[in-house]
Amino acid sequence: MGQDESRMVDEKTPPQTLKSRTLDAVAEYIRDGRARRIVVMTGAGISTSAGIPDFRSPDTGLYANLARLNLPYAEAVFDIGYFRGNPLPFYTLAQELYPGNYRPTITHSFINLLHQKGLLLKLFTQNIDCLEREAGVPDDKIVEAHGSFARQSCIECKAPYPEELMKKAIHEKSVPHCIREECDGLVKPEIVFFGEQLPADFFENRSLPGEADLCIVMGTSLSVQPFASLPMMCGDGTPRVLINGEQVGEMGSRADDVLLIQDCDTGVRKLAEACGWLDELEDLWEQTAPWARSGQPKPEQADEPKKSPDEQLQDEVDKLTKEIDQNLQLGQDQHTWLENHVDNKFARVQDNENGKGPTAPLTTGKTVASDTKAERREPSDGGLHHVFPWLSKKSSL
Ligand code: OAD
Repeated sequence: MGQDESRMVDEKTPPQTLKSRTLDAVAEYIRDGRARRIVVMTGAGISTSAGIPDFRSPDTGLYANLARLNLPYAEAVFDIGYFRGNPLPFYTLAQELYPGNYRPTITHSFINLLHQKGLLLKLFTQNIDCLEREAGVPDDKIVEAHGSFARQSCIECKAPYPEELMKKAIHEKSVPHCIREECDGLVKPEIVFFGEQLPADFFENRSLPGEADLCIVMGTSLSVQPFASLPMMCGDGTPRVLINGEQVGEMGSRADDVLLIQDCDTGVRKLAEACGWLDELEDLWEQTAPWARSGQPKPEQADEPKKSPDEQLQDEVDKLTKEIDQNLQLGQDQHTWLENHVDNKFARVQDNENGKGPTAPLTTGKTVASDTKAERREPSDGGLHHVFPWLSKKSSL
């Protein structure tokens, strides 16, 4: 996606500002107080661990999973021209994307941590899920370059549309129309569709990256303009860090570009740790948990001290031992019952043959015997596979 490795900086080229093109050097730069005006640029990849799909990941991305909407091409769902003629696919999808159902990720909390430390100059996001706000980043620090679900209006006369009615329409997957009867235009959330102008806020703040002393780009394919050009607005010697599942855009082409090609949550945890902020970050993220928001104590073992990995393993072994004991005991009981049962039946048949009673089908005894055998075999055969699934996997290799 937009990668052009031929433009990558030659590894022999020394950085201008950082000591090296590494995470540790970035952390040192921050710890030394040289990064006081940080711009962060984000995309859908920072929300995937919250459960919201991104757009372009090959199998899991939204665009790869829109066949059910019968679109002429995937991006049509966000195309204003297509929407005018057929708004239903968007409203079918809107229910899934509507904010309120997801918890911010630790990456969102990392951006809030930068703000709390007074280091965040601006966050430019392409996301419409509002999770940055939910993580605590204040409105005036966020530029929602592709708009958001926060407001909605008529696409013709621009009259605002009441939020409650919009929630109802999204819930019912129905298409709302302008509240002004004489207009009756289509209403849509103020998220920016292809073919629409970006919000004024974007253009007003677009030059800010030029004033930044550090730029962090996370979770975006940098494939949609004009957002994709934002990192280029940074000054030449300004370190730019990419935390993303893949290299994107022209990130990596400059002497002070640091590429952390990995999961965003892992990347921000590592960066926070190298800055000495990891505990603070985890605490901040914990505050976004539903139980913390509703003022409840932490659900499991609020007072119980945390168990070490060894203690957890011991617990697991104890649990298994108990289960095996129970199964063996069960098998023994069944075995005893079966022996008595077969003996009784055999005795009855013999009695019968000797003219002492009615005939009982011997197959009953056989069926019980084979079933019981299967049950008794299970604990030693496959009984642990539900606890250690990799045991089954190994055997199929
Ligand atoms: P994309 O889906 O285009 O890109 C997401 C990027 O994040 C990809 O490079 C993924 O490899 C990466 N990624 C996904 N999950 C990740 C994770 N957990 N950790 C690290 N990286 C991860 O999404 P955007 O760049 O946001 O526009 O897309 C830009 C715009 O295209 C969207 O705002 C939307 C869309 O069409 C409109 O709706 C107008």
